[in-house]
Amino acid sequence: MSITGVGSHVPSRVLSNADLERMVDTSDEWIRTRTGIRERRIAAEGEATSDLAVEAARKAMAAAGVTADQIDLIIVATITPDHLFPSTACLVQHKLGASRAAAFDIEAACSGFVYALEVGSHFVQSHTYDTVLVIGAEKMSSVVDWTDRNTCVLFGDGAGAAILQNRPSAHGLLTTCLGSDGGKAGLLEMQGGGSACPATADTVSRRLHFLRMDGKETFKNAVNAMVSAANEALDRCGLEIGQIRCVIPHQANQRILTAVGERLGATPEQVFVNVDRYGNTSAASVGIALDEAVREGRITRGDLVLLVVFGAGLTWGAAVIEW
Ligand SMILES: CC(C)(COP(=O)(O)OP(=O)(O)OC[C@H]1O[C@@H](n2cnc3c(N)ncnc32)[C@H](O)[C@@H]1OP(=O)(O)O)[C@@H](O)C(=O)NCCC(=O)NCCS
Repeated sequence: MSITGVGSHVPSRVLSNADLERMVDTSDEWIRTRTGIRERRIAAEGEATSDLAVEAARKAMAAAGVTADQIDLIIVATITPDHLFPSTACLVQHKLGASRAAAFDIEAACSGFVYALEVGSHFVQSHTYDTVLVIGAEKMSSVVDWTDRNTCVLFGDGAGAAILQNRPSAHGLLTTCLGSDGGKAGLLEMQGGGSACPATADTVSRRLHFLRMDGKETFKNAVNAMVSAANEALDRCGLEIGQIRCVIPHQANQRILTAVGERLGATPEQVFVNVDRYGNTSAASVGIALDEAVREGRITRGDLVLLVVFGAGLTWGAAVIEW
């Protein structure tokens, strides 16, 4: 099973730390030292997750040489769907004109891209479908509480996409491994809007339609889960960290990236970082980073790449790709 093309898209509007200083009680210095983030991208009013997804998909399709009518299945990983239903994948299917494609969403928060890769890869490996489009896309700005300095500085919008096909000559997905722990769901959640807590005037006034996070506990769980998922994926392939050309962790926060890299025994040069420019784009994060790493020449043919992710749920996962 191969990744025959990747692509990404971020909105043009930049929200800098200086802009945030004018919105909440924070400082550029605090944000940079605690998170490594300098700026993030914010979707335009009226621009939805499906719009970001379609832009990334078109680039991945062009890279793979795939037209819309060749796509058999579209999987969109997102926690900021255009609507609770229909799925964002169906809206993407229509916007792309992918008339033959089945379509559904996956929800695994910031781990969504690797979850979608694993699910999509099984459809291709089993020859159920020839061509699967996997997208991680988020408009996090639509669920961020812009009055909460604890969270609003962390997130951004964007999308990353990949085309999966059985092409022995292309970039092979060697393994994926996934995990979850719903017992810690409360660490990072959006309480309002689902069947347990439908939207009412009261839920809106209590700000339950915004994400909330226990930052410290999330941090600890993220580092532990990412390190063990990465080690499990390496073990399955019989690889040592030194053989990996590029480690692409979920871009949550520079301190998490540094801690994961150190605990895996990776050098700083091995670890790909773009969190400074985009913040945490949740399910889009490693898709955007993989595309940038390829375009920047950080990954060339035959290189081994390790994706490692963590998110709300809790969810986590890792994937090894031979590029
Ligand atoms: C959120 C995070 C950056 C906070 O860093 P931290 O070092 O744990 O900071 P603390 O939570 O101890 O907060 C320290 C102080 O800074 C304050 N603070 C929080 N956000 C702030 C901001 N944007 N600007 C200024 N001060 C801020 C807090 O209110 C607290 O003040 P207090 O001590 O007076 O109560 C960190 O916990 C983190 O990165 N967590 C993981 C987040 C994440 O990546 N989540 C997604 C995973 S997919």
